[in-house]
Amino acid sequence: MKVTIKDLTKRFASRDKTGETVTAVDTLSAEFESGKLIALLGPSGCGKSTMLNMLSGILPVTSGKIYFDDKDVTELSPDKREVGLVFQNYALYPHMTVLENICFPLKIKKVRKEERIAKAVEIAKMVHIEDYLKRLPKELSGGQQQRVAIARALVKQPKLLLLDEPLSNLDAKLRIEMREEIRRIQRESGVTTVFVTHDQEEATSISDYILLMKLGVMQQFSATRDIYNNPANLFVADFIGNPTINQIHGVYVNGGIKPDGSDEIIPCSIKANENDRVVLAVRPESVLFEGGQTTGTVNDMYSSGKDWLVNFNIGDTELRGYCDADYNVQEGSVIKVGFRDKGQFLFNEETGERY
Ligand SMILES: Nc1ncnc2c1ncn2[C@@H]1O[C@H](COP(=O)(O)OP(=O)(O)O)[C@@H](O)[C@H]1O
Ligand SMILES: [Mg+2]
Repeated sequence: MKVTIKDLTKRFASRDKTGETVTAVDTLSAEFESGKLIALLGPSGCGKSTMLNMLSGILPVTSGKIYFDDKDVTELSPDKREVGLVFQNYALYPHMTVLENICFPLKIKKVRKEERIAKAVEIAKMVHIEDYLKRLPKELSGGQQQRVAIARALVKQPKLLLLDEPLSNLDAKLRIEMREEIRRIQRESGVTTVFVTHDQEEATSISDYILLMKLGVMQQFSATRDIYNNPANLFVADFIGNPTINQIHGVYVNGGIKPDGSDEIIPCSIKANENDRVVLAVRPESVLFEGGQTTGTVNDMYSSGKDWLVNFNIGDTELRGYCDADYNVQEGSVIKVGFRDKGQFLFNEETGERY
């Protein structure tokens, strides 16, 4: 099922004495293709849960429209929307077995007993929990509990699956394992899925599309493989990628950037207006330690697991780049660096807009 959002807005009355309303989601429009996994990404408080809750119908919209395929569901109650929901805290029924938990939504819908058991077992197999059907939730690990929660959301065969930070309670290793599992389950079930996370690496590894938000406003909505290489603005460039993108603040002069605290000009093929305050942003893997013309001073060279990174300064700016393990520099070494065109972006310092 395709989901279309048109100028969706949610305002809350303030929780404090200021009396100002909070615009949690601000005139957001997007279209989620059928059968895809969309990551709703952004820092805490940017409006992700609010968006998800409007899609599920739990939260009424302030203005705007939501369409499931061509049907306007903006005013439709949650139980009529055919959505499956999974939250961070698994919210399983503690006194029910795994099987009873998964069956429960079908029981509510008055599906016959044999049929609901057959369906629950089928879904339990899909999420690899079939060996634990007789256990209680407390007898399961966090990852297993989350599998049960996903099974319970899928058993009604929802047209839309909504997951709100489903992996946040799991430890790092399990989180990576479970995100691959969610990817597999989503592919197998083919259900259009919206996955909320504040973790850019999680979003990137799991999704077909990323919708990145800041303070209720959509910053970019594009295919996951494009967002890293084609950020719409400085916020996006900074939010996506680990280690984070290098940012050189300076002035655009003579077809290049004069970084703050340096007299050199870094040549740049991207055009801005003379004397604009700009930010040249460069991915760490786009820093070249051979054949460059800009002078840098090394602070440190260190390993981050399989890779080696050099931490160095150009003028006042501290930067990081990948190097070979045998690159022979130490603190204080003066080096010449350059930047690859790919992975290099120019932004207006004031607006964050990309040139
Ligand atoms: N029920 C509410 N009443 C008032 N403000 C709220 C309410 N729910 C959320 N907000 C505010 O709306 C903004 C977005 O919240 P939320 O959607 O929960 O963000 P996220 O899920 O991205 O962390 C925040 O500023 C939050 O404080
Ligand atoms: Mg949230």
